[in-house]
Amino acid sequence: MSFQLIDLSTQKDTSPTANLFAETVLQGLSKKEKQLPSWLIFDDPGSRIFSDITKLKSYHPAVSEKNILSTNKELISQIVSSPDLQLIELGAGDGRKTMVLIEHFLTNNHPLHYIPIDISAGPIKKLVSDLKSRFKKSSLIVSGVIGDYFDGLEQFTRDKNKTNFVLYLGLTLGNQELAKANSFLRRVSNTLNSGDYMMTGFDLFTSPKQHYRAYNDPEGLFEKFNLHLLDRINRELGADFKIEHFTQEGHYNWRTRSVESYLYSLKDQTVWIEALQKKFFFKQGEGLQTEQSYKFTLAEIEQLAENNGFEIVKHLYDEKKYFVDSIWRKKN
Ligand SMILES: C[S@@+](CC[C@H](N)C(=O)[O-])C[C@H]1O[C@@H](n2cnc3c(N)ncnc32)[C@H](O)[C@@H]1O
Repeated sequence: MSFQLIDLSTQKDTSPTANLFAETVLQGLSKKEKQLPSWLIFDDPGSRIFSDITKLKSYHPAVSEKNILSTNKELISQIVSSPDLQLIELGAGDGRKTMVLIEHFLTNNHPLHYIPIDISAGPIKKLVSDLKSRFKKSSLIVSGVIGDYFDGLEQFTRDKNKTNFVLYLGLTLGNQELAKANSFLRRVSNTLNSGDYMMTGFDLFTSPKQHYRAYNDPEGLFEKFNLHLLDRINRELGADFKIEHFTQEGHYNWRTRSVESYLYSLKDQTVWIEALQKKFFFKQGEGLQTEQSYKFTLAEIEQLAENNGFEIVKHLYDEKKYFVDSIWRKKN
């Protein structure tokens, strides 16, 4: 057993949480229709709010995926079984859903090296420490990586004798448009070796009302999560956003086929961002898009695999068929 923490974010000149954060905010707020990508929300407090969201009954993607992993853990372990298996999780967050798989491998005396990667430091530190206290008497090897997906992935896939099983759970792939999802998968595929596996979560299109309920919880956690981005910009870039002058709502957009979350300005207001030396005007009712979550069809999922050098091994559904975890193998 071994439990290590690797911080790749400090090994780069431009850390993803410093310059890139400021640049992305500048670009997004300068657009005619203001839009910021959701990865900006994931600092430590943002990750904690997201972890609370995944415990909500109304947030069906997490409920469904938890159900898929516990029902299919034996099948998954049979498919990917190998004496030198590396379970590499991209954007692992709190890693809670993956625990059922890790436990299953260890109970069956299957050797396992678990490599959770996340740009947000807090969840990775907590995950490594939790795994250490929970599995300290097992054969488990853990390398928790704080940093960008590809920095971690490239570091751990250099050894061509290992079998890699990449997990990309939740809705993270769908947080980008289809074209960007394709280029993301192409990059993952280029990093992997023939015969490696990848399992990705996809939220399937059900109905706009059902999707609406998932992103507009009565507890107000989604609102708290999205508003947290303004808090983060205030803190890290010296801005003067007044959180109480914004409100959040998510909608299913038929044109983009995604649920889009917006922060709406409750009044005409100007916000100053010290680090950018710039002010931004928000009209009353103007929306700042903070999240997008694409809803897939099965045909699109199969096309994504095909386009990017993978063959489908198995689609695993929850009992209501709201969600699919699709297992792919990298082709020769
Ligand atoms: C939607 S959450 C999903 C978390 C978890 N996989 C789950 O299913 O509950 C996306 C996660 O990806 C992480 N993330 C976003 N962009 C990243 C990047 N470029 N590199 C590494 N992690 C990233 C975020 O910090 C966050 O923890």
